[in-house]
Amino acid sequence: MAKFLVLLGPPGVGKGTQAKILSDRTGLAHISSGDLFRENLKNQTELGKLAQTYMGRGELVPDDVTIAMIRERLAQPDCSAGAILDGFPRTPSQADALAVMLDEFNGHVDAVPFIIGAEDVLVERLSDRWTCRANGHIFNQKSNPPDKAGVCDVDGSELYQRDDDKAETVKRRIQVYLEQTSPLISYYRDQGKLIEVDGMQTIEQVTQMLLSALKM
Ligand code: AP5
Ligand code: MG
Repeated sequence: MAKFLVLLGPPGVGKGTQAKILSDRTGLAHISSGDLFRENLKNQTELGKLAQTYMGRGELVPDDVTIAMIRERLAQPDCSAGAILDGFPRTPSQADALAVMLDEFNGHVDAVPFIIGAEDVLVERLSDRWTCRANGHIFNQKSNPPDKAGVCDVDGSELYQRDDDKAETVKRRIQVYLEQTSPLISYYRDQGKLIEVDGMQTIEQVTQMLLSALKM
């Protein structure tokens, strides 16, 4: 049966950073709902244009279109052994939909690492974040700088600052997380799947804690 990990945690805590590292180390696919929306926006699809109206304000994209996008991604062959989900689910109804979809794809949510972080650190990390235009590789001008400013170490593409990383939008994203996503903490704790990890350590330390908690 295919195993899926759900990375849970507030904006800026390191979900994307850790998902990429875990995906490289385990070979499991990395599915980031935010990256999928940004890819759609880059390609100017109808979904991308719709998503942008919510993302720009720090609000969640409606559940129905988000679930449909993830369903399509889960059906791809690289997910047959499982995947690391980063940013999805983000509401209890998305989590219910995920359980139904995984049933259909002969998989299940194996564990839910919940990365914890303090709000002031999250805002600072996001204001220092630089993201790769081509493939979403993640850097930070203080904690994880690229070798050459403005250029991705991995694929040489341009680095940019996300529109939604402005301080006031980040504050709204954190509020939305607390109101709409944090109920998933007890949702998965009640299922015995939640693993709490301190996201305020270095990137490497967080990776080590995840690998040992997940026995990977
Ligand atoms: P999304 O792209 O998922 O954004 P997010 O959840 O707000 O999370 P971030 O990507 O900002 O943070 P992260 O935890 O991945 O941190 P990162 O590793 O980059 O979603 C964007 C928008 O899309 C949403 O607001 C919503 O509109 C929409 N959306 C997405 N999914 C949706 C869904 N399911 N339903 C509805 N709408 C949805 O790290 C941050 C920075 O910190 C980086 O600079 C990194 O280098 C640095 N860093 C990481 N770890 C450490 C560390 N341990 N120490 C020091 N620095 C660190
Ligand atoms: Mg991310």
